[in-house]
Amino acid sequence: MKGKILVTGGTGYIGSHTVVELQNAGYEVVIIDDLSNSTKDSIGGIERITGQKPIFYQMDCNDLNELNRVFEENKDIRGIIHFAASKAVGESVQKPLLYYRNNLNSLLNLLDMMQQHAVENIVFSSSCTVYGEPDQNPIDETAPIKPAESPYGNTKQINEEIIRDIVRSGANVRSIILRYFNPVGAHPSAEIGELPNGVPQNLVPFITQTAIGVREQLSVFGDDYNTPDGSCVRDFINVVDLAKAHVEAIDRMLAKKADEKVEVFNLGTGNGVSVLQLINIFEKVSETKLNYKIVGRREGDIEKIWAEPKKANTVLGWTAKENIEDTMLSAWKWQLKLREKGIM
Ligand code: UD1
Repeated sequence: MKGKILVTGGTGYIGSHTVVELQNAGYEVVIIDDLSNSTKDSIGGIERITGQKPIFYQMDCNDLNELNRVFEENKDIRGIIHFAASKAVGESVQKPLLYYRNNLNSLLNLLDMMQQHAVENIVFSSSCTVYGEPDQNPIDETAPIKPAESPYGNTKQINEEIIRDIVRSGANVRSIILRYFNPVGAHPSAEIGELPNGVPQNLVPFITQTAIGVREQLSVFGDDYNTPDGSCVRDFINVVDLAKAHVEAIDRMLAKKADEKVEVFNLGTGNGVSVLQLINIFEKVSETKLNYKIVGRREGDIEKIWAEPKKANTVLGWTAKENIEDTMLSAWKWQLKLREKGIM
């Protein structure tokens, strides 16, 4: 065993895939999750893939006493990966307090615990949303941070700043901040995947749920953007690839290889794919016809953004490997599995 890693939000979409990769790499995992946007089923899925059961605490990171108990009971935690957060952009505009409370308090509590329990390393889940509408693509880590478009986006920016301030204060804390582009797909085993509560806000779960008949029609938000086919362009990154970057980040910190106490990496493929292209790819690999219509733009959407992942490629030693066709097929297989199990 390489040591114990605490994964907050570990039953969620990206969290569960990361737990699998950590276990595959020889780490022991402790999960904290309040199951507000996931279910315990993902623990079964993780176990079926890796043959190992992670330690699981169902609790909210906002509860400092409970959090303290986790650190008391797991004195050998060597690093933390902090996924737990609310992430619906629209909801954050409606309920800003909820977003600020959840997303800021949980990080503050973890940083507090890290100092009390002498845990030095934290990987933080950030987002390309911090760049806003890029002046140019691909976008690298030195690009300016733009004013956030939503309270959700603002919590990512503020959390990055909080981490920098703690490190600047001289605390014995190191961090790798990972800025995700658009994570999609599922584990090839179809044992774990994305399962949003209610109506999906993100494109790919909406596509697969429409294709299987849970949703009647997908709305494509806008075809009048300044892009080759008029629809928005994103950097869709396979979730297993993304999960593996977290293992590299933890390895790097535990080996004390980091050049600075806070490092930032973009996690993307480096390729832009449009919404209409993605639909096309999905139809091809799933051999289904998707019912969709073009509607007006969605407020707050960015026209086009894709990553310059060179820093992650060279410094972190991580490169996205999966192609978009296999990735979309994995999302479809996961949806079919949910149907088979009667979940959706
Ligand atoms: C959004 C957030 C991002 C956040 C992520 C996680 C912004 C600008 N980005 O990414 O910060 O980390 O969600 O939840 O707020 N689309 C449709 N029809 C749909 C759904 C989406 O056409 O039913 C289009 C969108 O207009 C967009 C693309 O698909 O162009 C991707 O949308 P989505 O999956 O929601 O991700 P982002 O908006 O890129």
